[in-house]
Amino acid sequence: MQMLLVLVALVTAAAALSPEHTEPGQLALILGEEEFEDYLDAYLKHEYNNYANSSNAGVYARTGCTIKVNGGLGHPQPVYIRNNRYLTANGNSGQIRLNANEQVVISCPGSRRTIRHPNIVSNVQTATAKCVNNAVISGAGWLNGNGYFRQLTCSSYPYHEAQSTISRCYGNNLVIRVGYIVNNVFHTLYYSCYNRSRMEVLYVWYEQTPENAIHQTDVERPSWMAGNFYTGVPVHKMYTQTQQKAAIAQYVGRNMAQRYVTNLKYLARGHLAAKSDYVFATGQRATFYFINAAPQWQPINAGNWNALEQDLRARIGAAGYRTVIYTGTFGVMQLRDGHYRFQDIYLVPNRTQIPVPLYYYKVAYDPSRRIGTAFITINNPYYTPAEARARQFCTDRCRNNGAFNWMRWQPDRIDIGYSFCCTIDDFRRTIPHLPSFQTNGLLY
Ligand SMILES: *[C@@H]1O[C@H](CO)[C@@H](O)[C@H](O)[C@H]1NC(C)=O
Ligand SMILES: *[C@@H]1O[C@H](CO)[C@@H](O)[C@H](O)[C@H]1NC(C)=O
Ligand SMILES: *[C@@H]1O[C@H](CO)[C@@H](O)[C@H](O)[C@H]1NC(C)=O
Repeated sequence: MQMLLVLVALVTAAAALSPEHTEPGQLALILGEEEFEDYLDAYLKHEYNNYANSSNAGVYARTGCTIKVNGGLGHPQPVYIRNNRYLTANGNSGQIRLNANEQVVISCPGSRRTIRHPNIVSNVQTATAKCVNNAVISGAGWLNGNGYFRQLTCSSYPYHEAQSTISRCYGNNLVIRVGYIVNNVFHTLYYSCYNRSRMEVLYVWYEQTPENAIHQTDVERPSWMAGNFYTGVPVHKMYTQTQQKAAIAQYVGRNMAQRYVTNLKYLARGHLAAKSDYVFATGQRATFYFINAAPQWQPINAGNWNALEQDLRARIGAAGYRTVIYTGTFGVMQLRDGHYRFQDIYLVPNRTQIPVPLYYYKVAYDPSRRIGTAFITINNPYYTPAEARARQFCTDRCRNNGAFNWMRWQPDRIDIGYSFCCTIDDFRRTIPHLPSFQTNGLLY
């Protein structure tokens, strides 16, 4: 009977699943982890189309090159470097602009990978392309004549890596950097502050600017990667629903575990740096490391947490903020056992590793304006209203504040993630992770 109800709900939802009509947040309680990601992608693609058609973003510059983030890039995609940094779009336009004769380094890092193009004349891994006009480039010594930028691809996906660094973060934990190596330079996409013995990601950090407003849609999801950071633990397996049910059962018993972990409520691999926070396919693919994730209840992942990710990125794009985003986890989520006692939950009970976090947070900080806001979501759909409120550790600055009317989250919805905002100073009194920086006001 229950199965039948679920099926009916899914079929009904599928019929209404049109990205023109249904906001992703409305499907938080219906779709699974991967179905939701696909739906979100289709929804954003539609939004971007509307945006492109309603603005002058489609007008080509008179000279130089214009390459669309959606439609102008090849697959499998090379890494593009300009002036020793990742190529970016022009503001929030969703278009890359190059001056006539401006150069972009094109690279397919990884062993035996080479650049491909219909006009290729030599097998190179890294080369320099020069803007001719529109979406046309030239490549002295490796391309024959002029060719389309979009037709530059790699023989297979570029190789990205997650490397330990000698830097340390809060509590002497390890800093890992994730990115691509081009011409012997490591180009970082994000850093992760990671407790290796507890297998806990404290936070990751990366830049978000107006250039991130529009990302490439239709990028296939790769498999998740452990890198060298989960010695002795089959982390893929620990996230499966069977295994998480077994783990939770060790704390609260089989019967209770069956009630907590269901077809629609289970622990997903909650991205910290979101896939859609990266403009290019190459960046998006590199977000699938477990050191960029923590167990997050799926309705929360797809609910208020996703609303925050999307709204914050759009707000940064609209307001022109140049921010550093710290996205992290704190505390351990608890579930009640058969005796109504709270138990801490870890995905690897026998070794007390991979805690299921109580809090997910995102701190957005604009250093040039010295403004910042901490956004927090409670990762437990099973709390009562009193239990959720008791875990709110600051005055909520977003609530009843018109300055935050760009946010679509529903902060009182415990089932999709009870949420609140803090000043940076208030946030630090409970969550001491972040490096010190001063703010004079909220970012909104
Ligand atoms: C925007 O324009 C493109 C190309 O002209 C078209 O394919 C697309 O359907 C339009 N999008 C919307 C939402 O009208
Ligand atoms: C890392 O985890 C270990 C094991 O749980 C713990 O003893 C240690 O205090 C943690 N380190 C930090 C800095 O949190
Ligand atoms: C954890 O310990 C329990 C009890 O000692 C054992 O039954 C179970 O197989 C262990 N699980 C794993 C994944 O090692």
